Amino acid sequence: MPKLSLSKVLRPTAKAYTLPPACYVDEEILAFEHEYLFAGGWVSAGRAGDLAQTGDYLAFTVADTPLIAIRGEDHGLRVFANTCRHRGMRLVEPGRGHCSRFVCPFHGWCYRLDGSLSAAPRMGGADGFDSADFGLVQVPSEERAGFLFVNVDAKAPALDDWLGDFENVHEPWRLGSLITGSQRDFTVDCNWKLFIEVFNDYYHLRKVHPQTLSTLYADPDPVDETRGAFVSQFGEHARRGSVGVLEEAGSGLDPLPGLSGRLVDGTRYTWVYPGLTFAASRDAVWALEAAPAGVSTTTVRLSLLFDSASASAGDFETILGRYENRMAVGLDEDIAVLEAQQPGLRSSLSRAGRVCPELEPSVHAFHRWYADQLISAGLGTA
Ligand code: FES
Ligand SMILES: [Fe+2]
Repeated sequence: MPKLSLSKVLRPTAKAYTLPPACYVDEEILAFEHEYLFAGGWVSAGRAGDLAQTGDYLAFTVADTPLIAIRGEDHGLRVFANTCRHRGMRLVEPGRGHCSRFVCPFHGWCYRLDGSLSAAPRMGGADGFDSADFGLVQVPSEERAGFLFVNVDAKAPALDDWLGDFENVHEPWRLGSLITGSQRDFTVDCNWKLFIEVFNDYYHLRKVHPQTLSTLYADPDPVDETRGAFVSQFGEHARRGSVGVLEEAGSGLDPLPGLSGRLVDGTRYTWVYPGLTFAASRDAVWALEAAPAGVSTTTVRLSLLFDSASASAGDFETILGRYENRMAVGLDEDIAVLEAQQPGLRSSLSRAGRVCPELEPSVHAFHRWYADQLISAGLGTA
């Protein structure tokens, strides 16, 4: 692939073009994303609080690398390669579970929750074999704002440098103390960037959500000037009360305890590059972790996060259903568009367009960051 010319993407938002269509359809670009953005960056692997007890684990992949996050006996949360040190078998299937040891299904090597090898049957004849040399490979991981971040290649900048102002900007929502009310995984037939872009785009609301979400939001503030690998934009609501439930569904929950002033009647949309995005609203946070499964396939985990006092109220299950329904309705409307955007971009006649400065500045902020990564990797020119 010839180097991409990205100078028009790097212009100020009012003059900027969108990313070249190749960024959404090209296999070489996907390989770059796996290596530089997902393996090479800090990627959210869900909520640390969902792995609360010793032995709780989540098996997942980042950039095709199978991993296990596990709560240890010392209560520390660690991430290991989900790969046996004998002959490479994947130790556990993707998904959540609970165990006191990992036993490899192939020949029975057995690992403690801290990754050390506790047993390797019939290896007595292997000269110089020392089980201390064959613990699971550990991957850097740290918790911030309740999210578990991992860096597969162990070469990313320090997480606090990666996140910059992230924690300050989100302090009023007390993200670290929120609990997961519900969660679901699904797949969408579009490029992963398109999926996150639409979530941070106010421009499509009237056309795509005319009867549902478009009535909820007023025009947003400009994006915040921040430092770090994220963009964030706050906007007030067009009505009082929750925007996490549809108008006809009934009421939502009380505001989150840390919010005051105009934060009570607004939502902050944030994209932490590459794959985490969320809406921090008055009464809940809806978070999406998206990753490429192919150039035109995206895996998504949706988590609805709530204040623990709200979540322990007697009628919470009923109210939770309203939040889940509102997300499902909005996502269905978005996905119909995204799955038609992908073939449009795949066309050899597709060209870069322009961003709407007022209503798509977050999308452009991501495009600039992404263009910088392409240039650093030698795949683009400024
Ligand atoms: S591959 Fe795991 S014990 Fe052989
Ligand atoms: Fe949408």
